[in-house]
Amino acid sequence: MSNLIIAIDGPSASGKSTVSRKVAERLGYIHVDSGAIYRALTWQIINDGLTGASPEAIVRHLSSVSMRFSVENLVVLFTINDVDPGTAIRSLPVQEQVSAVAAIPEVRGWVGEHLRSLTPLGNLVVEGRDIGTVVFPEAALKFYLDADPEERARRRYREQQDFAGGKTNPDEVRRALLRRDAYDQLRSTAPLAMAPGACRIETTHLSIEDVVTQILSIIRSSPGYRLPKAIEQDGFRPLVYHISRVFFLCYLWIFHRYETHGLKHVPREGGCILVSNHASYLDPIAVCCNIWNRHVYFLARDTLFKQSRFMEWWAVAVGTLPIDRTKGDIRALKGAIRLVRQGNMIFIFPEGTRTRDGRLQPVKAGIGFLIEKAGVPVIPAYVRGTFEAFPRDARRIKHCKITTYFGKPVTPADCSVFKGDPERHQKIADLVMSRIAALDPANSSL
Ligand code: DC
Repeated sequence: MSNLIIAIDGPSASGKSTVSRKVAERLGYIHVDSGAIYRALTWQIINDGLTGASPEAIVRHLSSVSMRFSVENLVVLFTINDVDPGTAIRSLPVQEQVSAVAAIPEVRGWVGEHLRSLTPLGNLVVEGRDIGTVVFPEAALKFYLDADPEERARRRYREQQDFAGGKTNPDEVRRALLRRDAYDQLRSTAPLAMAPGACRIETTHLSIEDVVTQILSIIRSSPGYRLPKAIEQDGFRPLVYHISRVFFLCYLWIFHRYETHGLKHVPREGGCILVSNHASYLDPIAVCCNIWNRHVYFLARDTLFKQSRFMEWWAVAVGTLPIDRTKGDIRALKGAIRLVRQGNMIFIFPEGTRTRDGRLQPVKAGIGFLIEKAGVPVIPAYVRGTFEAFPRDARRIKHCKITTYFGKPVTPADCSVFKGDPERHQKIADLVMSRIAALDPANSSL
């Protein structure tokens, strides 16, 4: 089955970049910024001493430029002639030259080919000027974002103030933006235009979140929309999960006066990792069975699968990924990372095993590694009452009250403060554990 492509086109500062990134993140699709490729090429041309060169000279130079792409955290990264240009592609010299470079038909063909080579990587959200018209006319869904030029000039000015440290002049920014608009709209090859069948969104008076919500609801209600494929495992039966969830929910309500708090923190869509403390076999159901609107996948030790034929069938049917804890199972971890990157939710106990004394246990760095690699929000949960109801080595379940508290997600930005630190995986694991601990009402009253 071929991957799905969502095209988002529009003029500068129409909100395209932020919106595309967020839409891709929520869907678990890969985000591609095609403008960054034009900018990188322009940067290379400037570096190679071809500033102001004729289009013919630039076209001849193309054969000496190579780009390599990779995907990290659902974002396409690239190098140009083996160098990552970083934020230099947003510098003023690049800004001034890029429209002229992008107007050269051969350059457009070259960039278009590179963009099309990305389709095997996964489902894509591609932003640009001609994505729905020229690069991917077959895109399943096309959007065109627009905004009043004065508003776009204001947005670009604010952006550039951040980048250039406040040295820019608003009139200059406005003039440059209008010049680029004209360039993009009037060039003979692939001018900026709305693709036939594209959905136009006027963003002047909308917040980014409003635009993202509109786009997501259009995508979800379209017949071409495909949920990222979750588990490719024989025996996976989503209906068994659903029936089991309702059964356990009724059980907890009746016998444990079950309550949940903070369910609003559990995202309705997009890849994420749910984590909680672990005191009892009742924890997975106490955390997951009141989450109505999405499937929660589990990582569980493989010995659980071997307890009986029924357990083996059930664990596979509800979508459990077996993990061999004796040797830090890389395959299972990779499977889990793929699953969340595709926009699914997985549930993990960072402590690994059930507590013996009811207290939280230290966590290992492995969970920090998983969180960093997955690059998605982590939702902490604290389960209270399961230790009293059914601790390790207990033979009978006591009918104590069970309550689950969900907290604000730990975001990839929260984790990025540890970037470059050799101890970062342990620090991320500790941060997540501290957020779980903070949800215990006994701690918040301290
Ligand atoms: O979106 P941006 O500002 O990063 O784009 C940089 C330049 O590249 C801009 O002048 C328009 C051009 N561009 C284009 O012509 N076609 C695209 N698909 C993307 C960008």
